[in-house]
Amino acid sequence: MSQVTLKINGQAHTVDAPSDMPLLWALRDVLNMTGTKYSCGIGICGTCTVLVNGIPMRSCVMPAISMAGAEITTIEGLDPDGDHPIQKAWNDEDVPQCGYCQGGQILTASALLKRNPDPNDQDIDAAMSGVVCRCGTYPRIRKAIKRAAKYAAEQGGTA
Ligand code: FES
Ligand code: FES
Repeated sequence: MSQVTLKINGQAHTVDAPSDMPLLWALRDVLNMTGTKYSCGIGICGTCTVLVNGIPMRSCVMPAISMAGAEITTIEGLDPDGDHPIQKAWNDEDVPQCGYCQGGQILTASALLKRNPDPNDQDIDAAMSGVVCRCGTYPRIRKAIKRAAKYAAEQGGTA
């Protein structure tokens, strides 16, 4: 068992974790932050995506103890009030169906818009292709990302 301090959504959390405990387990089972979902568990589907220093990463395959010092953003931390341009766009386009994959989709989209504030379809497909949606919400995800880009531009900033 090792102790690690994780910086999640701007707050420090010290957890005791076996050396092989994935970050996803630390989030869900130790810290009770259940917005990050478990699906394949082997780094394939992207459902468990969180941002690590702004980069989308799969929390089911990253040992929690390797995350000391990193800035981790989970879906709970994007904007707790739901005012982030992506959250608004997701709402306006009615993107989710079952919702299970959507945390990973939204965080991946937010990283895309940070590095590319006006992505075209190809940019979107390239950035989002690793996050699987069993409900097939891809067309709405595309639309919502473009809408979020507009909202962010109107607010004079990036998403
Ligand atoms: S649950 Fe982590 S990639 Fe599928
Ligand atoms: S909304 Fe159901 S898996 Fe994506």
